[in-house]
Amino acid sequence: MAADGNRCWRVVRYPYPGELFSAALFDWCEEAVPEPADGEFLVKTICLAPGPAQRGYLDRNHGQLLESVAVGDVMRGRGVGQIVASRNPEYSKGEIFLGSLGWQDYSVQRPRGKEFVFSTKKITRPIRPLSTQLGVLGQAGVTAYFGLLEVGALKHGDRVLVTAGAGGVGSVAGQLARINGANVTVGTTSTDKKCAWMHDELGYDAAINYKTEIIDERLAELFPQGIDVVFDTVGGEILNTALTHLAMQARVVICGFIATDYAVGPQNGPINYRHLLYKRAQMQGFVSFDYWDRYAEAEQALADWHQNGQLINSEDVDEGLVKMPGAVASLFTGDNHGVKICRVTQDPDQLPGE
Ligand SMILES: NC(=O)c1ccc[n+]([C@@H]2O[C@H](COP(=O)([O-])OP(=O)(O)OC[C@H]3O[C@@H](n4cnc5c(N)ncnc54)[C@H](OP(=O)(O)O)[C@@H]3O)[C@@H](O)[C@H]2O)c1
Repeated sequence: MAADGNRCWRVVRYPYPGELFSAALFDWCEEAVPEPADGEFLVKTICLAPGPAQRGYLDRNHGQLLESVAVGDVMRGRGVGQIVASRNPEYSKGEIFLGSLGWQDYSVQRPRGKEFVFSTKKITRPIRPLSTQLGVLGQAGVTAYFGLLEVGALKHGDRVLVTAGAGGVGSVAGQLARINGANVTVGTTSTDKKCAWMHDELGYDAAINYKTEIIDERLAELFPQGIDVVFDTVGGEILNTALTHLAMQARVVICGFIATDYAVGPQNGPINYRHLLYKRAQMQGFVSFDYWDRYAEAEQALADWHQNGQLINSEDVDEGLVKMPGAVASLFTGDNHGVKICRVTQDPDQLPGE
């Protein structure tokens, strides 16, 4: 049993409209390590995955996929950890576990609890660093995989635009487009430095700085024959402009809408949707967890590409549980490049299978 305490972030209030995500929404607490009861087990958090959806967990009636986290509760968050004590014969000490661990050092996992049934599992053959299981081989990876290959129905020779192409999901989507035979891959982002990283490291053919360049002109230049697949994680004006550059039979994949999701006041929606009709195009939203029963297929493909060097692990790591609110905030200011990870403690010296 762990001897140290359990540091955690508890929600103290929901943000005001337009308020930036910050540590002011939470209390930093130091508590006793919880004890697992019969049938439960205790997981020590190793890494957490900050995500834009965590802002939505602090909104009443936002209509998000999961219900809001109650004021006073430990903040919800996916992570990877190690089982350090178990009173469940199916979960053994030393095993690596992926699931809803919360923003804390230790979590008791209840195999019949509602958070448990939602996308948790043991990782029998973990890859180092363990954060890889949250990023390129985890949620970011599978979201890009199903979004681009299934919903976007990517075909050899397609011309692909990935918005927030330097972000967690976007950085994998851009690489998957290239690996799977896209003819042109272009991403959007907010700085020249990220544009250069996308081109030099991720293999995009080009990147557009949406803060300093005229997107409409750049899309016309880079896609003279139109875009076959738009993999969109931002919505708003960028999506609206991209719709006017579609090729015939284009697919527009709605993965997220960070540009408008928590903005206050009137927003520019996708008023250019008439181009879907002109181009006989489809626009479809998806949620990666809908493919939960096919995750193994995606994880295997991603692991193979990763192992043979085609898919780089584009992680951006903050050290320490104390950094968690800032790590989420960075996703809204574009200060991250690649999959944002918050490392709570070092990977264990010995992992299962080693
Ligand atoms: N459908 C699903 O199943 C699913 C699963 C996971 C994530 N998602 C969604 O996918 C998106 C990406 O998630 P992620 O975890 O990988 O985050 P991320 O892309 O690593 O971080 C968000 C990025 O969005 C960009 N951004 C922030 N504010 C913006 C704005 N106002 N306009 C344009 N770009 C803005 C920033 O990059 P720049 O520097 O480029 O601005 C930032 O790096 C989110 O919308 C998330 O909700 C969906």
